[in-house]
Parts: sequence; C-alpha cells; structure tokens
Amino acid sequence: KIDQYILAIETSCDETAAAVIRNGQDVVANVVASQIESHKRFGGVVPEIASRHHVEQITIVVEETLTKANMTVSDMDGIAVTEGPGLVGALLVGVNAAKALAFAHQKPLIGVHHIAGHIYANRIEKEFSFPLLALVVSGGHTELVLMHEHGSFEIIGETRDDAAGEAYDKVARTLDLPYPGGPQIDQLAQSGEDNLNFPRAWLEDGSFDFSFSGLKSAVINTLHNAQQRNETLKNEDVAASFQASVIEVLTEKTYQAAKQYDVKQVVLAGGVAANKGLRHHLTQKFADESIELSIPPLWLCTDNAAMIGAAGSIAFDQGHRAGWDLNANPGLDL
Ligand code: KG4
Ligand code: ZN
Repeated sequence: KIDQYILAIETSCDETAAAVIRNGQDVVANVVASQIESHKRFGGVVPEIASRHHVEQITIVVEETLTKANMTVSDMDGIAVTEGPGLVGALLVGVNAAKALAFAHQKPLIGVHHIAGHIYANRIEKEFSFPLLALVVSGGHTELVLMHEHGSFEIIGETRDDAAGEAYDKVARTLDLPYPGGPQIDQLAQSGEDNLNFPRAWLEDGSFDFSFSGLKSAVINTLHNAQQRNETLKNEDVAASFQASVIEVLTEKTYQAAKQYDVKQVVLAGGVAANKGLRHHLTQKFADESIELSIPPLWLCTDNAAMIGAAGSIAFDQGHRAGWDLNANPGLDL
C-alpha cells in the first residue's frame, strides 16, 4: 500500500495549527501557535484579535509544518481544514488558506468538523472499536457521541446550557484566576477538599444530557454568602468542590451510556480531557470493565491540527470532497 499524506489546518478559535498526517494515524509534523497570551488580559478570546493573529500566523505555521515534515504540498494526497464550528472570522482564515493551497496545487480539499477532530485525536495512538462512545468536553461543547462506524456520529446527550470548559472558565474568572481557567482550577483542586456540597445535575432519570449553569450559580452564591458573613473560603476547596461535581456527573453518565449502548470503546475528547481529575476518575470507573477506555495524551487534548488530519484522512478515504465554494460554518452540525 502506498502511504497517504494529509496536510491539515485548524484555526477555529485561538490556536493557529497545521499538521502532516500519514495514513490517518502517524503524526509526521505538528505545529501549534497559541494566542493565549494576547487574549489573557481580556479574560477570554476576543474574536477580532483571534482573526488577525491567524492571518499573521497561518503561512508561517504551514511552512514550518512542511519544513519539519521535510515535504512539500505536492507530496500531499489532500488538504483537510476545520470548516466549523467556531469563530467565523477565525475559521475563514484556515478555510481560505486551505482552499488557496488546494487550488494552486490541484489537490483534493476536505472539510472537517472540529468535534470530529477532537474525537479522532484518539485514533492517532489507538485503533477504534465500534460501537464507540465519545465524551466530548471542550470550551464550546459537552456531548456524548455514539459511533457505529467511521464518520458516523449520533449525539445521545448534550449540555442544555454551558459547556464544561465554559463552566470552568467562568468559575475561574469568579475566583480572579487568569484565562483559560480550566488548568488553573484543575491545579488548585489537587490540594483542596470537596467540602462545599455543590449540587450534581443528574436531570431526568435516564437522560444523558448535562447542565452546568446551576453549579456555576451555586459556586457564585456560596462565594457571595461567605463574603457577606466575612468568612473566607479557600480557593482550593472551591475548586475541588466544583471539580468534584463536574467530574462525578460526567463520569457517571458516560458509564451509564456505555453500558446501555453496549459499546466496545469509550474515548475522551476536547480541551477538558486534559483535566487530571477527570482522567483519573474515568480510568478508575472503567478499570474493571471489558470496555476499552482511551484518553489522549495532553498535546492532543487541546486544539491542534493533527486531530483534524486524523478525521480528514477517514473522510478522504470515504470519498468526501469539498468544492471550491467551501465556506466557514460557525454553527456546523456534527
Ligand atoms: O478543545 P479546546 O482547546 O477548545 C474548544 O474547542 O473549545 O478546549 C478549551 C477548554 C477551555 O475551556 C479550557 O479551560 C479547558 O478546555 N481546559 C481544561 C483543562 N485544560 C483546558 N478544563 C479543565 N481542566 C483542564 N486541565
Ligand atoms: Zn476544540
């Protein structure tokens, strides 16, 4: 078999990223230029600033990736790019760069869903076994996704309000921690105690949906009440109590869904997959199960283009091709 090479581009939020992937599973080169420092002082991602940075970085990042791979665009079988969801101005930079490269070199163009990318980050180190259940937890998404075969995604549960990462970032902001708050809370939680009795949002019996806005309000109210009583709560305990609530619900619902749908494999995906507590609890929960649990290495959890190449390679094999009219789609469905 001749090797297949995909050049992948990702610019949906605040990372300008490119990668070369061989046969959907080997990372030949992977470059991520993060903009976090530019957004930090605003406490979150500023869309206009993100777009400008992508414009400045995209050519440099793609060239650096090809140089690292010791290859040129002519060596590629196709060019994959995140078409959505995400920030429209940010997505447009990647989509147009991919279109320009594909058109100039007459290469097939493949549009990739950002969440499909996060899920396929797990296939870089391990083969998939179907049926497969993905717990997707990122800044914009919280979903349980059931897959019966490559490229087919059925959402069996999703958040009704905030995404898990969004809840982390909002609670972090309440504690005056810098953006992005997820890693900060995770760190604090390691040395705190789950002693504040925050609620667990189980919702209706049998539902695989999530809700985090009640928890977020409980955290804010608890801090406020303590302040009024002139008490000080330890940030570590607030972080540990908040994180315990999030993790318990995520882990339990994932476990129930895995059992109900009799899946062979569970994969963890999205930026919050980097969370130490979540990784630990899921590992414990599935330790005595015949279900295979796959957790990506940290560098594949947050946004990158290797995962877009992994998903794009499968789409390419399945014959999916985008036209020259490919557009950024901020609300793209999985
Ligand atoms: O997947 P991602 O990089 O971007 C989106 O597609 O949204 O996810 C970013 C999110 C942010 O909300 C960030 O706070 C969260 O992932 N995150 C974490 C951790 N690392 C990143 N949340 C909890 N614990 C972490 N260690
Ligand atoms: Zn993401």
